[in-house]
Amino acid sequence: MSLDPKIQRLRELREQARLGGGPERIKRQHAKGKLTARERIDLLLDKGSFRELDMFVIHRETAFGMDKKKYLGDSVVTGWGTIDGRLVYVFSQDFTVFGGSLSEVHAEKVCKIMDMALKNGAPVIGLNDSGGARIQEGVVSLGGYADIFLRNTLASGVVPQISVVMGPCAGGAVYSPALTDFIIMVKNTSYMFITGPDVVKAVTHEEVTFEELGGAMTHNTKSGVSHIAAESEADALFLVRELLSYLPSNNMEDPPFVPTTDDPLRTEERLDTIVPDDPSKPYDMKEVIRLIVDEGKFFEIHEHYAQNIVVGFARLGGHSVGIVGNQPAVLAGVLDIDASVKAARFVRFCDAFNIPIITFVDVPGFLPGVGQEHGGIIRHGAKLLYAYCEATVPKLTVITRKAYGGAYDVMSSKHIRGDLNLAWPSAEIAVMGPEGAVNIIFRRELAEAEDPEAKRRELVQQYREQFAHPYIAAGRGYIDDVIEPHETRPRLINGLEMLQNKRDSNPPKKHGNIPL
Ligand code: HXC
Repeated sequence: MSLDPKIQRLRELREQARLGGGPERIKRQHAKGKLTARERIDLLLDKGSFRELDMFVIHRETAFGMDKKKYLGDSVVTGWGTIDGRLVYVFSQDFTVFGGSLSEVHAEKVCKIMDMALKNGAPVIGLNDSGGARIQEGVVSLGGYADIFLRNTLASGVVPQISVVMGPCAGGAVYSPALTDFIIMVKNTSYMFITGPDVVKAVTHEEVTFEELGGAMTHNTKSGVSHIAAESEADALFLVRELLSYLPSNNMEDPPFVPTTDDPLRTEERLDTIVPDDPSKPYDMKEVIRLIVDEGKFFEIHEHYAQNIVVGFARLGGHSVGIVGNQPAVLAGVLDIDASVKAARFVRFCDAFNIPIITFVDVPGFLPGVGQEHGGIIRHGAKLLYAYCEATVPKLTVITRKAYGGAYDVMSSKHIRGDLNLAWPSAEIAVMGPEGAVNIIFRRELAEAEDPEAKRRELVQQYREQFAHPYIAAGRGYIDDVIEPHETRPRLINGLEMLQNKRDSNPPKKHGNIPL
């Protein structure tokens, strides 16, 4: 029996839409080491789960001969599907159609799935590969961007939004990813900038390549715009799946519970010797984290940026947690501008999405220096303080070594609503470190001493014995308990379970005024 011609026509149209800008342009896309919009979706979602929307939408422009150049679906593929069985919405820009540029209908398609995601409480994943505003459509295209920006902002804190940059993302177009929660960039094939190398050269006479100006590693190490650098497109899409496994689908849900074979009562003897006796010697906080969390799995965010603080997701007894840790192995774990901003943003994300925050503290204080002061460390440090203060999710803190000065207060202390504050016996909690303190409070004694160096050593030792331990703080209840390092995992899991039904809120307000 021959096929019904109407069905035949539908099949042909579908096939035509699937080819986007045509076989020649698909070949060019592949030659650049890039996948097509649809191939990316296939890798991202559970097999066979994608349901496409607006496959027959075409652009409306007639100027510049555009009425003769129409492609079904225009320059973006949109729809929904599942990741590990959970609903997600996705848009994937199709570079083979007008370079993935954003037309009026491209924006409408993206807005449609964003509206659906918000209504149905599911994450939005954007796969970006676009030459920016559709030049032929002028201001209509700019309006389309603004429609997306508005939705990015309204969805912020309601559903997780993840952007993957897999090609060009330039001009104002960068602001849609920038408004989302996480940006993953693919090494060597993606770039983001407000103005490209040519404009930079014309305006500032600086010569810079695409990669240096806005490549994946630039944004992962220098600007902090991107949170994760992926080795390849497949790697980037795999990382999206992994990241989502730690997150709830929306702000009304808890993150998924993932049963583990890692014993919740597991003690870890290696932790008892991980902090060196010499307080100026570094150790790796990531090692501490891995020894404590389920199966040693730590999904790091901003791995390459502001490495003096470590942030990321893990699980404890199957519960998803956000981890913040000062990193003594880099700049002695000091808090500077970049570290403050990095951790503040992470803490706020966790708080918005009901993810408990575990903080590991070993911080000598805020970084001194003209550069830091003039750069606004006061303002930026305040962001981290603000983020911890306003967070109402369960907050558990472990002080492993130093907690000095304002940084003690900031790093999820009891005073700013820390729920369970633990310290290791190696903890040192005081206004400042022994050397600095002795120089200030014994200035006269040191000046008058016969042997100032010997006197300094003696006073430092005295100060250390008197202050550099956790028992003054514990004596006041600022620390709930001093624990042996090896029992950290069971104690944290027990604490998380104790806090499972925690209820806390902030005073009613339109929104606070975080020092931006
Ligand atoms: C319409 C575009 C386009 C655009 C590319 N194309 N960008 N069409 N509007 N913005 C088309 C090309 O004409 C070409 O069509 C196809 O896409 C592929 O482009 P190529 O240049 O051949 O590809 P490639 O060499 O890989 O270069 C990619 C590129 C370059 C670097 C992105 O195309 C480029 O510089 N495009 C313009 C970028 C730009 O200035 N955009 C506006 C930014 S301002 P054919 O038919 O030959 O396949 C902006 C404002 C947003 O976006 C504001 C929001 C607030």
